[in-house]
Amino acid sequence: MRHVPEARATPAEQAARPDPASQPANGSPYRLGAALLQSLAQELSTLAEEASVLLSTPPESLSPDADAVARIARRNVPRWHFAMLNDNGRNAALVTALERGVPEGATVLDIGSGSGLLAMAAARAGASRVFTCEMNPLLAEVARSVVDTHGLSDVITVIGRPSTELDPVRDLGGPVDVLVSEIVDCALIGEGLLPSVRHAREHLLAPDGIMLPSAARLYGRLASSEAVAQLNQVTTAGGFDVSLMNTLATRGHFPVRLSTWPHRFLSEAAPLLEFDLAHDPLEPGERALSLSAASDGEAQALVVWFELDMGDGITLSNPPDNPGSHWMQGWIPLEKPVPVKAGDQVALRLCWSDFTFRVSL
Ligand SMILES: C[S@@+](CC[C@H](N)C(=O)[O-])C[C@H]1O[C@@H](n2cnc3c(N)ncnc32)[C@H](O)[C@@H]1O
Repeated sequence: MRHVPEARATPAEQAARPDPASQPANGSPYRLGAALLQSLAQELSTLAEEASVLLSTPPESLSPDADAVARIARRNVPRWHFAMLNDNGRNAALVTALERGVPEGATVLDIGSGSGLLAMAAARAGASRVFTCEMNPLLAEVARSVVDTHGLSDVITVIGRPSTELDPVRDLGGPVDVLVSEIVDCALIGEGLLPSVRHAREHLLAPDGIMLPSAARLYGRLASSEAVAQLNQVTTAGGFDVSLMNTLATRGHFPVRLSTWPHRFLSEAAPLLEFDLAHDPLEPGERALSLSAASDGEAQALVVWFELDMGDGITLSNPPDNPGSHWMQGWIPLEKPVPVKAGDQVALRLCWSDFTFRVSL
């Protein structure tokens, strides 16, 4: 943590610093709120320092090898981009889907450029014009260079903004014929697939436009794994009760490569949800589930994975028995462990927001 001398504390830091005389009891919402503000102030202070160093560097001396590039990229560009681009199964499915799904001469919007891969595949598939938007400015800049290197800048326009900020006329010259997106995390919705598609479908795609993927399904199984549960929960350490740490645990789903941890499945794989991306409301919601327990044990979570329908029989999926996929599985902890016996019907409620899943009993 950077030491900030008293006289130079930023307004955000001053606001976040609680008055010690008025500090109420341990664990109070007031103290938690103050700690949250302090944590954000630290983050802002680090960013301000980084920005001031960068602003004092003449642009012409900023080479791609500069320390600042590596440092900021490491913080702001998720490392999984590399594993994702090396996932040949994923790439082949997406490229084939575009070859089969993009009509000759169509206009295409690709949400989430990354390196520009899907935009280039759409252009190669015969699109007359491709727009690709990327909300991460560093990635947008790289995508522009990649597209340029391939001599595709006259067909592909990279827009460095979130899709939800695009204007169909000003940015795209009118609604597009095809919308493609690969913005899914291990549990489907964590990257904002639902709000992004909801918005794009209404504002950016022509009324009979083609949507890739057209549908997304979520599958899951009840599971028990002390090892995985301990990635996100704690009771004692070194003889001390440290369970208050659980205040800071991840709520909702988180990624886990299930095959690398000892675990038991307590139910068979079952379909949990299906989204018709072209027609369903794609709003937050909830659904009652009844899963048939296949063996005795204590269910701790619902392990989930997705299947994307990319058209023409092409699917993309990340089940636990597909270790070749760069996507892990999603682990949605139950509110509390549930003892089950083979043959029991286990009633659960699956709730989803725009970005995460929760399961309640
Ligand atoms: C999983 S990556 C896929 C990149 C690329 N399409 C590919 O398949 O290789 C998703 C990218 O979409 C971007 N993204 C997610 N939602 C977006 C949105 N609504 N608008 C623009 N970019 C978005 C993320 O920043 C990320 O770089």
